[in-house]
Amino acid sequence: AGVAIASLALGYLLGSIPFGLLLTRMAGLGDIRSIGSGNIGATNVLRTGNKKLAAATLLLDALKATAAALAGYYIAGPEAGLLAGFGAFLGHLFPVWLGFKGGKGVATYIGMLLGVAPVWVLVFAVVWLTVAFISKYSSLSALVATLVIPVALWIVGSEKVALVMAIMTAVSWWRHETNIKRLLAGTEGKIGQKG
Ligand code: G3P
Repeated sequence: AGVAIASLALGYLLGSIPFGLLLTRMAGLGDIRSIGSGNIGATNVLRTGNKKLAAATLLLDALKATAAALAGYYIAGPEAGLLAGFGAFLGHLFPVWLGFKGGKGVATYIGMLLGVAPVWVLVFAVVWLTVAFISKYSSLSALVATLVIPVALWIVGSEKVALVMAIMTAVSWWRHETNIKRLLAGTEGKIGQKG
């Protein structure tokens, strides 16, 4: 149990670094939480109009989960890797530093996959890009991609990873509640669109 708690805690600490908030603040763009959807993620950073900063947010938010998963794996084995990656995801969504109000977990979801099942990042990317190309909605693309991943992992027999990803999907969907409402109402902002 000690290893499990340490893995979760290490992951949580890494995951709770809010790169979107830090980068936009350093760039003098103000508080990202008062822009667009108010989210701290790459999609909302893109609404500032700064594509490089959005890309950096996506990359760094993803890599903190990858780093956690790999650190857990190499220090204490595959299960510690899963727990540390999961901890990073939780740290991003519920960072103590921001009063537990963090992001929606799409980048950290991808980063987790990169750490524990790298080829699946390609599957995620193809699904995300296809839905985004057709719909222009970042949230819808993430909702569909995060649904496909655990189902597909389960089908190919990676039950343990599928289970962890399914939990992450459920939590991420829950954090997308306002996006889902806006999608259903037809008021969700399209990719890059301000507001
Ligand atoms: O990556 C989060 C995305 O799915 C939605 O972000 O800012 O439109 O709520 P946002």
